Amino acid sequence: MRTNYCGELRAEHIDKTVTLFGWVDRRRDHGGVIFIDLRDRTGTVQIVSDPQRTPDSYNDAIALRSEYVVKIVGKVSQRPEESLNPKLPTGEVEIYADSIELLNSVSKQLPFQVCTSEYESVREDLRLKYRYLDLRSDRMAKNLQLRHQVVKAMRRFLEDQENFLEIETPILTRSTPEGARDYLVPSRVNPADWYALPQSPQLFKQLLMVSGCDRYYQIARCFRDEDLRADRQPEFTQLDMEMSFMSVEEIIELNEALICHIFKAVKGIELPRPFPRLTYADAMARYGSDRPDTRFELELVDVGEIVKDSGFKVFSGAIASGGTVKVLPIPGGNESISNVRIKPKGDIFNEAIAAGAKGIAYIRVRENNEIDTIGAIKDNLSETQKQELLAKTAAKPGDLLLFGAGDTDTVNKTLDRVRLFIGEELGLIDHEKLNLVWITEFPMFEWNSEEKRLEAIHHPFTAPYPEDINDLATARAQAYDLVYNGVEIGGGSLRIYQKDIQEKVFTTIGLSEEEAKEKFGFLLEAFEYGTPPHGGIAYGLDRLIMLLAQEDSIRDVIAFPKTQQASCLLTDAPATVDNKQLQELQVKSTYKPKK
Ligand code: AMO
Repeated sequence: MRTNYCGELRAEHIDKTVTLFGWVDRRRDHGGVIFIDLRDRTGTVQIVSDPQRTPDSYNDAIALRSEYVVKIVGKVSQRPEESLNPKLPTGEVEIYADSIELLNSVSKQLPFQVCTSEYESVREDLRLKYRYLDLRSDRMAKNLQLRHQVVKAMRRFLEDQENFLEIETPILTRSTPEGARDYLVPSRVNPADWYALPQSPQLFKQLLMVSGCDRYYQIARCFRDEDLRADRQPEFTQLDMEMSFMSVEEIIELNEALICHIFKAVKGIELPRPFPRLTYADAMARYGSDRPDTRFELELVDVGEIVKDSGFKVFSGAIASGGTVKVLPIPGGNESISNVRIKPKGDIFNEAIAAGAKGIAYIRVRENNEIDTIGAIKDNLSETQKQELLAKTAAKPGDLLLFGAGDTDTVNKTLDRVRLFIGEELGLIDHEKLNLVWITEFPMFEWNSEEKRLEAIHHPFTAPYPEDINDLATARAQAYDLVYNGVEIGGGSLRIYQKDIQEKVFTTIGLSEEEAKEKFGFLLEAFEYGTPPHGGIAYGLDRLIMLLAQEDSIRDVIAFPKTQQASCLLTDAPATVDNKQLQELQVKSTYKPKK
């Protein structure tokens, strides 16, 4: 029987005889004394064997190699002064091995070394192909355990303190309205019909409220066929919640308590409450983004009013065509940012281009508030315009003003991207900081220029503010997102539960009565049988854990993630299937490989 895990041994265990199981992380031969770092999921501990003190295990120790699986019995000893390792939690002790039993060896060349010192340089595709080896690493083992701790804390809070029921909802279902592409599964018994994998449990959790469940939660797998990024996977996990009879304020309060409980349980951190809030309009105005990174202060300033009549056509033209001119002031930017970086091919210029801008104009503020620009801005600003510009942006000598001009969306995207780039570049972001902020009062709809219609920003079941109901197209939604260091970790809303408002929303997004009935008829019908007022939220569990683990990608907190191309390098999914299977499903591929 195992007596202890490797990573838990401390000075208090000295003189205890322990039985350990694990993998050989490294084996070193120091002039006849063999040192083995023995690893299990809790960490490593040093095992020692030499011909004098442990003659029975010495030959077995010599034969060990990395990743061999062993059972070791031995006595915990104090390490000599010169070999104490304060960096290792077990660094005060070592174990003289009375016996070493080889349980299994490695019969192939290892694709990479798991041992901590060499692991960080391993390519990600190799790590994903041999994920079971990768998960042995200290980093991945810690991340998976953190994930477990977070889910455990969520369950304890929701079940034990707040009376939530955990209820599972179907995976084989109909399309859910989250706006991404569906993963489809053909039905063998209903030829020509398809299931869609849920993009979220949205419709079912609302039905559960109609059922009187009152408070529901689920650690729910969701599927979205969309372009992948570091914080997006085709299948990902949500903490999904829905509650009846609660206002936005009450939902936000309960969720702050939940988040605080998680941070306390897994990080020992007391988060200050209430969390700050920004309306969507404020967030867009000040940061150009509905998920602003508020760990640093650079903020955008709208100067459209000041420059709308200037002779500089880029500015006046932008305003004339209904767009925006905004400034990102960089205090001390004259010193820290050279012209080369803002001009074509410069790194800041490239960021602006990548966000959709044509370039980025700038002004440098010199001594006595003289201004310096390239191009035509300076000659085309009147003295009043110049003074107003400096006053509104609170610019001082030494500051750099970066301008975005054009359609509002592109200006915001550009300055948001440039702001984040410069924030990182100039070291303005304190990576130890934790900034949580609620974004509230989202608009109900945004214009889809491809389909030439309004579409729901959240989903079409989100309730508008009652006072905005008469002009739905510009109404604000009773929706809220939680943003953590610039990453959207959760979002939810109060739902519509009155039939007439739901119909109005469908009309606004151009959904006819028949279409609404065909897509959501079952839900709309359910709403006619006594629906409680309800609302909810879903957190991206992977994203939350990525941030708690200080990782840059959610792939590093998912046991078996997919690549950017949505494939699993370990199992080689997706893969071709037998023709027979396709025939049974009455499905035929029309795909023709490119020559
Ligand atoms: P939403 O679509 O905003 O809301 O999703 C909720 C949260 O899920 C995370 N998320 C993702 N994480 C990883 N990979 C993805 N592809 C991905 N897409 C989304 C984000 C996001 O904040 N049903 C509603 C919630 C509700 O209204 O209650 C919903 O799914 O962190």
